[in-house]
Amino acid sequence: MLDHLFRPLDLGPVTIPCRIVSTAHQTMLARGHVVSDELLAYHEARLRGGAGLIIMEAAAVEPSGLLSDTETMMAGYLPRTLDGYRQLKRLAAPYGAGVFVQLFHGGREQHSPGPRPVVVSSAAVPSTRYHTEPRALTTAEVEGVIEAFARCAAIAAEGGLDGIEISAAHNYLPAQFFTPETNDRQDRFAEPARFLTEVIAAARPAAPGLALGVRLTADAPAARAVAPSLAGLIDFVHLTVGDSATHVGAAGIVPPPPWPRNMVAATTGPYRGLGYPIIATGRIVEPADADQIIASGKADAVGMNRALITDPDMPAKARSGELASVIRCIGCNVCIEHYHAGSPIACAQNPRTGRERHLPRPARTSSPRRVVVVGGGPAGLAAAAEAAAGGHDVVLYEATQRLGGQVALASAAPGHQELAETMLSNYRHLLGRANVRIELGVRAELAVIRDAGADCVVVATGARPYAGRAELTGVAVLSAWDVLAGARRPGRVVIADWGGDSVALDCAEVLAGEGAEVTLATGALVAGEGLHQYVRSSYLGRLHRAGVRFENHQALAGASGGRVHFGNVFAPELSKSIEAEVLILSLGRVPADSLPGSLTGAGIAHRKAGDCCSPRGIEEAVLEGTLAMRELLELPAGAAPSRPLGLTPGPSPRSAPAPGCR
Ligand SMILES: Cc1cc2nc3c(=O)[nH]c(=O)nc-3n(C[C@H](O)[C@H](O)[C@H](O)COP(=O)(O)O)c2cc1C
Ligand code: SF4
Repeated sequence: MLDHLFRPLDLGPVTIPCRIVSTAHQTMLARGHVVSDELLAYHEARLRGGAGLIIMEAAAVEPSGLLSDTETMMAGYLPRTLDGYRQLKRLAAPYGAGVFVQLFHGGREQHSPGPRPVVVSSAAVPSTRYHTEPRALTTAEVEGVIEAFARCAAIAAEGGLDGIEISAAHNYLPAQFFTPETNDRQDRFAEPARFLTEVIAAARPAAPGLALGVRLTADAPAARAVAPSLAGLIDFVHLTVGDSATHVGAAGIVPPPPWPRNMVAATTGPYRGLGYPIIATGRIVEPADADQIIASGKADAVGMNRALITDPDMPAKARSGELASVIRCIGCNVCIEHYHAGSPIACAQNPRTGRERHLPRPARTSSPRRVVVVGGGPAGLAAAAEAAAGGHDVVLYEATQRLGGQVALASAAPGHQELAETMLSNYRHLLGRANVRIELGVRAELAVIRDAGADCVVVATGARPYAGRAELTGVAVLSAWDVLAGARRPGRVVIADWGGDSVALDCAEVLAGEGAEVTLATGALVAGEGLHQYVRSSYLGRLHRAGVRFENHQALAGASGGRVHFGNVFAPELSKSIEAEVLILSLGRVPADSLPGSLTGAGIAHRKAGDCCSPRGIEEAVLEGTLAMRELLELPAGAAPSRPLGLTPGPSPRSAPAPGCR
């Protein structure tokens, strides 16, 4: 079973023991531009879990090549980078996996904080997404960048690494040279492949014995055109999708569902038969699909980046046939959101990702406690999973008839269907143990909790929609949650969204998909403002295609006589009213947190987690559920809460590690 994944593969002079690759991804765990202990621990988890090859995150070849001028970005040009390379190689040795580094120059793709550095490229062509306006490199400067690639290759070789990947994907500098729209040069670098082939020619002798490959965006016509000229020069090509320069292209770099699974597999055809092995990366989630991609000859190895961010043990589990126990990536893009926010990597399904040194896995207990969890949304599920993994007896009460909370509600929408199904399937596995009892349709008041014999309780009762204060007459009014649960009224729809939430986008997509005339009016700068940009871009593309109308900067003021009234959030004296039969409210959420008071009165140790502290997202819910349960289980048996309830000051859940909410 899955035989193809676990056959060794030669990448030029280097043999990797299995074909699952952890692809380059900025973790924001580097410090002072070089490898930190946190970054070593992060990669060690993936090495221990059986990945065949680790490609370290983009390491800039010179300062102008840094994607962002922050110390958390790797700088492959610093001689002290050597130490980190050596340490990582030492860690990798017992596992037999390869360790490569990605050498990188972003060219005009750059998003440094101010004061913003000068941006350079093959030509002076502005770039939309990061809003950069580069100048063209001179011929001598281009030659200097080529030398920089060679110097960094030499450092990688001296550091003992096994290989180098030159990033020519995603429209970074090498791709800017070979893409016609960004190359109007008059020197020898006018020839599209010239810059990349000179980089390869310079790096090869600088790093003798190392594998040398190139990353390309497989579906870019310019990459397809350049690929044949790399034959005989490289040891592998790493194909992926996405283009950093445009909103829709960037979403393809880390494509969220409903972008199709395994999307890269359809793009590898033009690269087959060119004489070098293919690594293919892009939305490959399932080990069985990965095996099939290799079996079909569409690739020789697979990048499964987010799959490994979520479950670093996935290769080992797949190898031993324990596919059911793999924790699958839900595609929420919290990981890349952390990168864009400049905070250490984290995963909404695995609270230990990025916290390898600080948040150990639960140890099995020899004296199990009776633990009650109130609420079956992500926070409650994570709390229950933490206790169950430690061998404690868990009872989870959920007031409705299904698990998943708001995530399950959102599963009615295309933007959340796969995410919800995958999350629930992950927890079905984690909670499918003898020591877990799940009670649906039970509102767990104090008496229920007492009857259960609870030693301690995690309260994860979630949130409810905020109704607002506007006077609403003359239209049918539904909450966004009602709509996702199936409620409908006939007629033209206006969705009043307070702040760019996904629930408004989900309602718009569902209703437009049913043929309704939908206007989405938001008080935010743009609908979906609160979402990660790749997720937002994907939603907006789908909603524009579905004919949804957008009104930005509009705060709900009221409704009367078949019209919904708004005030402009920037110019409050300006108002607008829109004809509608149906008004759908997405006005934010408020915590549902009535239980803790009675638990305090009864002297039962408890912690709150997730939206009942204050509504946020899946990441915070899962992290807080996990930490709340850990903290309770560390209390001496029978101890009452040692601190008053309420928000605890401390590092935000974005940093590692973070406290829960009490
Ligand atoms: C947090 C994060 C950072 C990334 N940084 C890089 C990078 O440094 N260089 C690169 O070529 N790709 C980068 N990527 C893209 C990944 O290498 C990979 O192509 C992408 O995650 C899609 O693969 P997947 O569907 O298996 O996750 C990054 C992705 C993530 C999630
Ligand atoms: S944060 Fe979300 S998208 Fe990223 S690896 Fe985890 S589950 Fe997947």
